[in-house]
This record gives sequence, C-alpha cells and structure tokens, in this order.
Amino acid sequence: MAKDMRIFQHPILEFKRGRKVKIIFEGREIEAYEGETIAMALWAASIKVFSYSKVFHRPRGLFCGIGKCSVCLMIVNGIPNVRTCITPVEDDMVIQRQKGEGKLPLKELGEYRVRFAKEIVDVDIAIIGSGPAGLSAALEVAKLGASVAIIDQNPKLGGQLIKQTHKFFGSAETFAGVRGFKIAKILLSELKDYDNVMFYPQTIALGRFRERYLALVKTETMFKHRLIVMKPKAIIVATGAIERPLMFENNDLPGVMMAGAAQTIMNVYGIKPTERVLIVGAGNVGLILAY
Ligand code: FES
Repeated sequence: MAKDMRIFQHPILEFKRGRKVKIIFEGREIEAYEGETIAMALWAASIKVFSYSKVFHRPRGLFCGIGKCSVCLMIVNGIPNVRTCITPVEDDMVIQRQKGEGKLPLKELGEYRVRFAKEIVDVDIAIIGSGPAGLSAALEVAKLGASVAIIDQNPKLGGQLIKQTHKFFGSAETFAGVRGFKIAKILLSELKDYDNVMFYPQTIALGRFRERYLALVKTETMFKHRLIVMKPKAIIVATGAIERPLMFENNDLPGVMMAGAAQTIMNVYGIKPTERVLIVGAGNVGLILAY
C-alpha cells in the first residue's frame, strides 16, 4: 500500500478533514476526505502522474495546483478534461489518466449530460477573485451598504492567502505581523456579518456581455452546474497574478511545480509535496516555502 502523504501534525496549522470518501483510480480504491480535490487525494496516495501529453506522451503531474494550467486534466466518470486540482472528490468517482492519443474519448463523452438551471441575480458590484484585493474591496462595498457578489473558481475562498503561513510585512493597517491564512479568515468572517454579501466559490466567470451582464457557471457536483446571469452595476476584476514558469529541460515532468502549488498541497490540504525538495529562487517566496 502506498504511503499516505497527509500531514497530521503541523506547528502552525490544524487540518480539519471531512468524512472519508472512496474514489476509484484505474481500478484501485483510494481513500480521500471530503473537501479534498481529486488531484490532492491522488497526491496523498503517492500518485503523481495524472495524464500524458498529446504528441510526445510525456507524463504530466501537478504544476500550478489552482486551475491555471492544464497538466492535471483527467477523465472523471467518463468525462475528459476535468481539472482535477480544483474538482472536489465525490463518493465512488471513477478516475483515469488522460492519455494523449490525440483523440477525446467521445463515446464516454456521449454519457455526459450537464443540466443547467438558469438563475438571474441582480447585484450592485460583482467582484471576480477572492484574494486579498477582492475581499478587501468587497468589505468596503459592504460597509457602504451596496450589495456585492464575490466570485472565485476555487472551492475555498481567500486566494493565495489561505496557503500562506508566514507573518505579513508592512503596516498594522494592512495586517503586518498576521499570518496570511488568518488574514483570509478575518476578512471572510467580517464579510459574513453583512447580509448584502453573496459568496460564489467554485464559480467560473465565463464572460461579460452586453449591458454588463456577467455569465457565471457554478459547479455544485460533477453533474450539476448552475448557469447564473448576473446583472451588476459594476465589476471589479481582482484575479491577481499567476506564477512565471522557468524554462529548463524536463520542466514539464511530474514533481516540478510552482511554489504556489507546493504551498497549496502543504498548507491548504495538509499533504507533503514530496520527501526531498530543491527550491529554485531564494527571494521571499523561495525562503517562505523552504521555511
Ligand atoms: S490546472 Fe491543475 S495543476 Fe494546473
């Protein structure tokens, strides 16, 4: 049996896991916990190859960990191209590696029926992105009495804050001396006190259309999605930044990952990224990661 890479004791964080969920990976039963994503549950079971590239059939693992690349695409319940790093586990999910034969398994795809229920939401301000900028902007809007919707494609709100265990620099007004994940908790709990704030985790903003309509797709389960047409008076885009990958030979192989992915695995899901680590870059991110 493969080693469980989960962390049970941590000097700063406490990992509260949900109930046990069984998933099937290529015929093998894997134990996961509610709240974990598919990729994280596989990683915890020491499974690190998720797919193979289309042309050269190179193995692919986990690279960004936040739904921003495409290396973790797998076939889930017969549906190809599922971004497993941001898709939560569900009971009896059947997961397969996506092999780059150059052809999608259209036969299985035929089984896939997404039921869309359309919903119209009126709101003063829609904020896309729930990191520090998005949550701070939402708080200011809420204090002024306007209604605000916070939209984020990830299952957990808080952006990069939720994976940061270090204490912030700067001034007291901007949370100096407070650990990142605590800042997210503070901002979210303040926001929850307002009844003019709506939260939309696991929701993708597809586009902005005429008359400022915003089309959103909220994933509830693998087979249940909600199409939301939002009509905000203004939109704030607070989507942050993505990391810049380094160019070097074999940088695509499983085990090579962005700093943010390692932080997500460790600090959000409580799983060891690996046993031995080489970090390239000794700026603040490199040092924080090493710590
Ligand atoms: S999209 Fe999942 S690892 Fe990048």
